[in-house]
Amino acid sequence: MAPRRILPADLPPDSALARRLVAHRPTARVTVDHDGSPVDAVAGEPLAVALLGAGTLTLARSVKYHRPRGAMCLRGDCDGCLVRLDGVPNVMACQTPVRAGMVVQSQNAFPTAGLDVLRVTDWFFPKHLDHHHLLVQFGGALNRTMQVFARRMAGLGTLPDAVAAFPRAELVAVDALVVGAGSSGVACANAIARGGASVLLVDEREGPGGTRRDDPTDDAAYPGCDPAVTARYGAGAVATYEDETLLLHDGRGVSVRARARVFATGCRESVGTFPQNDVPGVFTARACALALCHGVLCGERVVVVGDGPFARALVAALGARVTHAPGAAVVEALGGRAVRGATLREGARTWKVKCDALVIDGEDSAAYELAGQAGARVLWSDGRRCFVPESDADGATNYTGVYVTGSLRWGRRAPDARARDGALTGARVLRDLEGR
Ligand code: FES
Repeated sequence: MAPRRILPADLPPDSALARRLVAHRPTARVTVDHDGSPVDAVAGEPLAVALLGAGTLTLARSVKYHRPRGAMCLRGDCDGCLVRLDGVPNVMACQTPVRAGMVVQSQNAFPTAGLDVLRVTDWFFPKHLDHHHLLVQFGGALNRTMQVFARRMAGLGTLPDAVAAFPRAELVAVDALVVGAGSSGVACANAIARGGASVLLVDEREGPGGTRRDDPTDDAAYPGCDPAVTARYGAGAVATYEDETLLLHDGRGVSVRARARVFATGCRESVGTFPQNDVPGVFTARACALALCHGVLCGERVVVVGDGPFARALVAALGARVTHAPGAAVVEALGGRAVRGATLREGARTWKVKCDALVIDGEDSAAYELAGQAGARVLWSDGRRCFVPESDADGATNYTGVYVTGSLRWGRRAPDARARDGALTGARVLRDLEGR
C-alpha cells in the first residue's frame, strides 16, 4: 500500500474536507519527470505532495548511511525531501510549487533514492562508521583510497548543472514588516495599517491562513487583509539583521528595511525521538493534514498517535480510515524501506500496530530563530518545553523594534485567540512607532 490521491467523492459529501477539495478542485494538471518516469501533478501544489500522491514515499537518502528518507514534515524542517530539481541540487520538494515540465532527480543515491545500492553501508556498519579513522592502520595508500570513496558516496548532491544568475536585490522600506500571515500576523498587519503606518506582510506559503490552511476540518474563509496592507506570498524571510530583513521572493532577494519587525512565525512540529523515526511513512500530523488538504492520503492504513489539534482534525476528517491512539507514545517504528507498523506504549501497556503511515501529533516548539536573530532574548520555557522569545504583555521584546505574536509566544491556540493577540501587538507597534 502507498499514499494516493483521493477525490471528494471518496468522502462524506457534507464534510469540510470534501467541500475544500471541491472548492479547490485542480484546474491545471501537469506532468513532471521524476527519475525518468512521468508523474501527474497539480500546478502549484507542493512537489513533495505531488510525489506522495503518485505513491512515492522515498525521495532521498541520508548523507552517510544512505538510509531511505521521505517527506516527514512538509514544512521545510526535516530535509527528508531534498531532490535535484532542473539541475539544481538540494531543493526542498515540500517548499517547491509544481510547474509543468519539472525534471526531478534523486541525489546522493545510485541508481535512485527508491533503490539505492549504497544502502549496504547501513548494513555493514550497523553501529556507526567513523570514516575519518577507517583503514588508517593499514597505511597511507589504502586510507587515501577509502577517503576518495567516502567523499564520493557521502555528502548532499553535486554541483549545479549551470551557474545561477543572481539578479540584484530589490530594496523596500516600510514602517513595519510582519513575517507570517497566519491569524495573528494578518490581524497585526491590519491593526498597523489601519493606524496609518505602512506595513508589509510576508509569508512563505502561497496565501494567508497559516495553520488553518492545513486543517482539513476548516473550510471557513480566512480573514482578509486590509487594502492598506501590502502582502507578499511565496516570500520566505531567510535572515534579519539591524533593521533589515532579507526575503527570497520569485527567485530574487528583497531587502526590507523596517522600523518595526514583527515575527508571527508560529511553531514547528516534530515526530519526537524514537528508534526508526526516520523511516519513510512516519509523518507529523500537520504534514498528513496538509497533504490531505491537497487531496492526498498519506497511507491506506493510518495510525494517528497523540491528541493535538491536527490529530483530532485527521480523525474527524477520515473517521474509520484511521486508528487513533490519543494517549499513546511511540516506542519504535517498524520497517526498513517504509514503515510497516509501530510499537506503542500507554502506561504499563505495550502493543504493536500494523500501518503504512505512522502519524504523530507530538510536542511543538516555537519557531523563534528569526526573532532571536533580530535581537530578542530567547529563554527556555519549562511549560512549553522549548525555547521561546521573551516578550511583554503586548508582544514587545527586549530589543527595540522587535515584536513576537501569536502561537510563537503562546503555543497552539484557537485562531480567534491568535488574532486577538496579533491585534494587540499591532496596536503596540503603532504606539511605539508614534513615540519614536
Ligand atoms: S523538509 Fe520537506 S518534508 Fe520536511
